[in-house]
Amino acid sequence: MHEPNSIDAPQLEQAARRLLEGGLVAFPTETVFGLGADAENPAAVARIYAAKQRPAGHPLIVHVAPGADLSWWADSVPPAARALADAFWPGPLTLILPRAARIPPAVSGGHATIGVRCPSHPVAQALLTRFAALKPGGQGGVAAPSANKFGQVSPTHAEHVRSEFPELGPSELLILDGEPATVGIESTIVDVSDPSGHVAILRPGHIGPEQIAAVLGVMPGWGGKASPQVSGSLKAHYAPRTPLYLVAAEQLESVLDDFMDGHDGDVPRRVAALVFQAPSQPHEGVDYHPAERDAHDYARHLYATLRRLDNQGYDALVIESPPDAPEWHAVRDRLRRAAAAFEG
Ligand code: TXA
Ligand code: MG
Repeated sequence: MHEPNSIDAPQLEQAARRLLEGGLVAFPTETVFGLGADAENPAAVARIYAAKQRPAGHPLIVHVAPGADLSWWADSVPPAARALADAFWPGPLTLILPRAARIPPAVSGGHATIGVRCPSHPVAQALLTRFAALKPGGQGGVAAPSANKFGQVSPTHAEHVRSEFPELGPSELLILDGEPATVGIESTIVDVSDPSGHVAILRPGHIGPEQIAAVLGVMPGWGGKASPQVSGSLKAHYAPRTPLYLVAAEQLESVLDDFMDGHDGDVPRRVAALVFQAPSQPHEGVDYHPAERDAHDYARHLYATLRRLDNQGYDALVIESPPDAPEWHAVRDRLRRAAAAFEG
């Protein structure tokens, strides 16, 4: 029987050694699965870019064990970075810092900054701790983007990872399993690299601006001019294969009407609608799926839901827009980018 909370020690050792040898290891985190390689080994990092089919200029996040020395990675660690790390690590927060000159630029896609995050998932922590212990000097980090092909839906289960990389056998990609993600969407990215001290959120996530402001005493900005291509900030991203439409509650009926009526082919359309409340008069041909009403629950299951619906052969996925409220910000961001892939 698979015990989700137990860590398979021999497998963990094998995974840490695989990383040390320059190989790829996928591992669970509290956000999404990462596709990991030794952050300081450019050949290993190149394997990540190749496997993901990710454009070379897109920087990766370095994952570190609890208690790791940030100055190993960053040539300066501003007070705001220390404060945020103290408050939110281990957890779903990535800090963008000025990259230490010693760290090979490949991990940052050649940029002068570096993204660092200490995840809270027990399997991720065990892997990172063991890997660092094997490295000379006891410091090491694992570069890991989400373990999906570029632009696709992020994985929150080991089977998702396996299905993303069918071309990689077990000797090319070791996949660790573990307890399910508690957050389910990618970490909040905060840029603390600006010498002026200006702090900006580059990607919204579970940790919101209010929580960051509570630590820093000042509201973070958004975007940040210095930020290089952030793939999660591309307009179209996180997309399933089935066309996905994000529709306001008031427009749901008419959009479904148009979608079902405007079709004159012989084969009836099949549409999945992810809605907060099923209508009293359901449309024929529409399968209504209940959406989680709590923003964190919605986020936790979002990617598994998208993948499940994507695999059911629907002609379209129609998703009711979540409320325009702060706690829904990160989910709305992911849904908008998923829908953008199908806009005119
Ligand atoms: O929750 C997460 O962050 C997950 C798990 C695996 O930790 N990782 C993740 O990685 O979402 P990825 O590569 O899918 O997205 C990382 C984002 C990208 O948009 C990338 O451009 C941005 O982080 N990023 C990484 N380093 C950066 C840097 N130096 N400057 C600006 N953006 C950076
Ligand atoms: Mg990603």
